[in-house]
Amino acid sequence: MLFYRDHIYPYLVDGLGDPPPIRQVRRQIIPLAQGTVLEIGVGSGANLPHYDPARVRKLYALEPNPGMIRLAERRRRRTKLNVEFLDLPGERIPLEASVVDTVVSTFTLCTIPGIAEAIRGIGRVLKPGGKLIFFELGLSPDPTVQRWQKRLEPVHHWLFQGLYLTRDIPALIQQGGLQIEQVEAGYLAPFLKSSSYCWWGAAATTAYV
Ligand SMILES: C[S@@+](CC[C@H](N)C(=O)[O-])C[C@H]1O[C@@H](n2cnc3c(N)ncnc32)[C@H](O)[C@@H]1O
Repeated sequence: MLFYRDHIYPYLVDGLGDPPPIRQVRRQIIPLAQGTVLEIGVGSGANLPHYDPARVRKLYALEPNPGMIRLAERRRRRTKLNVEFLDLPGERIPLEASVVDTVVSTFTLCTIPGIAEAIRGIGRVLKPGGKLIFFELGLSPDPTVQRWQKRLEPVHHWLFQGLYLTRDIPALIQQGGLQIEQVEAGYLAPFLKSSSYCWWGAAATTAYV
C-alpha cells in the first residue's frame, strides 16, 4: 500500500490530473495568486508553471507524499519561483497566523481526510483580506450523476488515495468560516460526469469582506 501511495499514485495523478480543460482553468486562476502563497497538496506540481514569479514573493508548497514532492521538485527547477516544500499534512499547517496572502488548493480539499481542520487552518494562516483560490471536484447537482458518484466513490477513494466525489466543497468552505466571493462550476471533460464535476473560484476571510 505504501509502495502504491509513494511510487504509483504520484504518476497516476501526474498523468491524469492535467488534461486540457483542467489546464485551461489552472491557467485562468493560478496567476491570481500573489505575495506569500501557500499551496496545500501541491502534488506533482501541475500548478507551478502557472504562477507569476513577479507576483509571488514566496511559495510554501505543502505536500505529505514524498513521491509527489520528487515530481514537483523537477517542475520547480524549471521556474523562477522561490519555493519551500513543507512535508506535513494540510490539517497541520506549520505557519504562524495571518502570514499568507493567498492559499491555493486544487483537487486537495476533495482528497484531504480532515477537511474541516484544513479549512480552519487556511482561515488561520490567511491575512485579513487574503484569498483562498480553489479548484475542486465534488458533488454534482444532478441526482442521477450523484447516484453514480456514490457508487463509484469507493473505487476513486482507493485509486486516488482518499479522493471523494461527493463533497460539497463550496458549502464546506463556507462552514469553515470563509466567504465564497466567486465560483464557477461545470463538468470538465474528458472524464465521466461522475468524476468531472468541478468548482473553481475564490473565497476570502470573513473578517475582511
Ligand atoms: C488529486 S491530488 C492533487 C494534486 C495537485 N494539487 C493537482 O492539482 O494536481 C491530491 C493531493 O493531495 C495530497 N494530500 C493527501 N492528503 C493530504 C493531506 N492530509 N494534506 C495535504 N495534502 C494531502 C496528495 O498527496 C495529493 O498530492
